[in-house]
Amino acid sequence: MAKFQRHLFTCINLREGDDPRGSCAKACAGEVATALKKGVHARGLKRVVRANKAYCLDQCEHGPVVVVYPEEVWYGRVQPEDVEEILDRHVVGGEVVERLVIPDDALTGVAPPEPEGDA
Ligand code: FES
Repeated sequence: MAKFQRHLFTCINLREGDDPRGSCAKACAGEVATALKKGVHARGLKRVVRANKAYCLDQCEHGPVVVVYPEEVWYGRVQPEDVEEILDRHVVGGEVVERLVIPDDALTGVAPPEPEGDA
């Protein structure tokens, strides 16, 4: 069996109460995840691209969040109507949908340390 060429992870996490960071589930992430899976299947990519639901990806204030690997592209505030564009332009065409990208400096991760030089 061959490896998948791409993975699409959609956060569908629900935070209880009025968490100030927000919650992807409260911003229609479930619809986004379903549309991505259906769109992958409709394009005949079921054995090539895997669309999975995920829980909190720690980018809650940007939700709904979709991350695409192996390119490591983080999309934020993705709405169901954005799914076709992500699939056609990025997954099929290899072109990042810049208008939906969460800028690196807005992500909550920490940059890896600089490699040490030869001292
Ligand atoms: S709730 Fe979706 S990234 Fe945290």
